[in-house]
Amino acid sequence: MGARNASHVGLVGGSLEERLQHSRVPPIESAWVLAPLRREGDEERLREFVAPGGVHLEIGFGRSHHLADLARHFPDAPVLGFETRRAWCRMAARRAEREGLSHLRVIEGDARPYLDAWVPDGSLAACYILFPDPWWKKRHHKRRLFVPEFVERIHALLAPGGALVAKTDVPAYADLIESTVLDHAGFSLAGTTADDSALEALPRSHREKKCLELGIPYSAFRFVKEPLR
Ligand SMILES: C[S@@+](CC[C@H](N)C(=O)[O-])C[C@H]1O[C@@H](n2cnc3c(N)ncnc32)[C@H](O)[C@@H]1O
Repeated sequence: MGARNASHVGLVGGSLEERLQHSRVPPIESAWVLAPLRREGDEERLREFVAPGGVHLEIGFGRSHHLADLARHFPDAPVLGFETRRAWCRMAARRAEREGLSHLRVIEGDARPYLDAWVPDGSLAACYILFPDPWWKKRHHKRRLFVPEFVERIHALLAPGGALVAKTDVPAYADLIESTVLDHAGFSLAGTTADDSALEALPRSHREKKCLELGIPYSAFRFVKEPLR
């Protein structure tokens, strides 16, 4: 199965892959970036990268430091980051190279079709979705990551006991994240910021640091994959 044919529409300007193909900024040529849609051999490299399992996956890492911090926090696990913005992917790849983070890879694009096509079920130790775009307008709600179909996909991708970590400073989106994930019978809520040492131990994203600096309240959730009841 390949993602090449996936007619995934959902981000500003329609298909993101189409948009990247027409970008005036040249594509990133780096060993730290996997581009299975355009570079010969990268489909196989991606499969090999995720094959050992225990992968830490970040969707929408934004500025690169959090992804690098995750890689330092989990030095023995494959760490895979998706981001739709080319400049931030380039920044992450340069940082990984500079810091010798050989177990980190970046993919430029909308994570969803790649996860469908190339990441096997049960291969994730954790998935981090930190301060996702809330897509305020009603007609854009279908672009949100936290919809039942995607929660179902993340559940399948996680190994038993694996974690879905989500944070947001948008109260209505926090409610939606909590209800959408807990509506899935295979997740339970293991912790929130105030009471969870596992959450507290994780690195902080750019947006989280800003919230802390400016005193903006935010919600954090650690959901854990349970066996299906
Ligand atoms: C609000 S920013 C948060 C960035 C970072 N996680 C933080 O906490 O500072 C959301 C990021 O997710 C990226 N993004 C949105 N949808 C995505 C998708 N489907 N796949 C990959 N990245 C996505 C956007 O480009 C943006 O950089």
